[in-house]
Amino acid sequence: MTRELSRGQQVVYEEKMLTLPITEVPKDPNRSTQNAVSPFRYPGGKGFLSAFLKRRMSLLDTSAERVFAEPFCGGAGAALILLADGDADVVRLNDADLRIFSAWQAILDEPERFVAKLREVRLDMPEWYHHRDLVAGFSDREYDFDIGFSTFYMNRTTRSGIILNAGPIGGYDQRGKWKLNARFNVERLANQVLWLAANRARIELSNMDALSFIDRGRRRADSGNTMFFIDPPYVKAGGRLYFDGMSEAKHVALSDILTSGSVKYWVLTYDDAPLVRQLYKSQNCSTISVNYSLQSKRRESEILVEPNYR
Ligand SMILES: C[S@@+](CC[C@H](N)C(=O)[O-])C[C@H]1O[C@@H](n2cnc3c(N)ncnc32)[C@H](O)[C@@H]1O
Repeated sequence: MTRELSRGQQVVYEEKMLTLPITEVPKDPNRSTQNAVSPFRYPGGKGFLSAFLKRRMSLLDTSAERVFAEPFCGGAGAALILLADGDADVVRLNDADLRIFSAWQAILDEPERFVAKLREVRLDMPEWYHHRDLVAGFSDREYDFDIGFSTFYMNRTTRSGIILNAGPIGGYDQRGKWKLNARFNVERLANQVLWLAANRARIELSNMDALSFIDRGRRRADSGNTMFFIDPPYVKAGGRLYFDGMSEAKHVALSDILTSGSVKYWVLTYDDAPLVRQLYKSQNCSTISVNYSLQSKRRESEILVEPNYR
């Protein structure tokens, strides 16, 4: 595809990309970053889609358990808003990155230990280096509380919430206007953790490849009442911000599953790349436009794909 073309050809190819219809995404009146449910910061987090996803959840049957499943959950910004606001009865969170999974599991299964650590941890550079080294040197094959906590610490103290390869908020010399503690409001984080623990019975967590997760989900008895919200690493920019377990072949395999018709309800977000348009040309593709009170802000680089519901 694009990468096989020379640079000049690529420009011509991209210029020919058709303008897509626009999906206006309303602002969720009850939610903002100030009252986010997820304790994570996530680059490209999808909490801003919550009002749109709530509308889509109304396709599900309210007399049965409504499931919201995120195969690439990251910080699960949207899923937890839906759970908190009663638009989903159960959320299934999955991430292939064992560090992210460990952070979630530590929060969900050892909340008191997690909160105690939040309250005692220092917010200074020696501590930051300690957690960075743990996360960078990580090579385990199973859940580990300390890795989970360190991953979370990095998420809250590095620039843009990237867990590796990003500097600390405030710079290495801590001379910036904002310091390491700028995004680490201990009591607020503790409350978010305790809320998650109180809702543990409605949150399922797994650590598998997204394709296996979707395949398993479509075979479950409740697959007809499950909304899959799929937010894979970008085709173009993937790999830089977080763990990227998606090769081009896997992006293609994902589209094979979704376009086969065997997954009933799904919403997919991607970067607006030629490969994505090609793979989903038979589906409902649009450009996301976020509608805030005074102006509509088009997110030119991202597209939304949905099946053609009848
Ligand atoms: C774009 S982020 C998801 C952000 C999320 N929607 C949010 O609002 O926070 C992509 C996530 O997918 C995970 N990931 C990457 N490759 C994966 C794979 N093959 N299977 C499952 N998860 C994967 C990454 O660890 C990362 O957390």
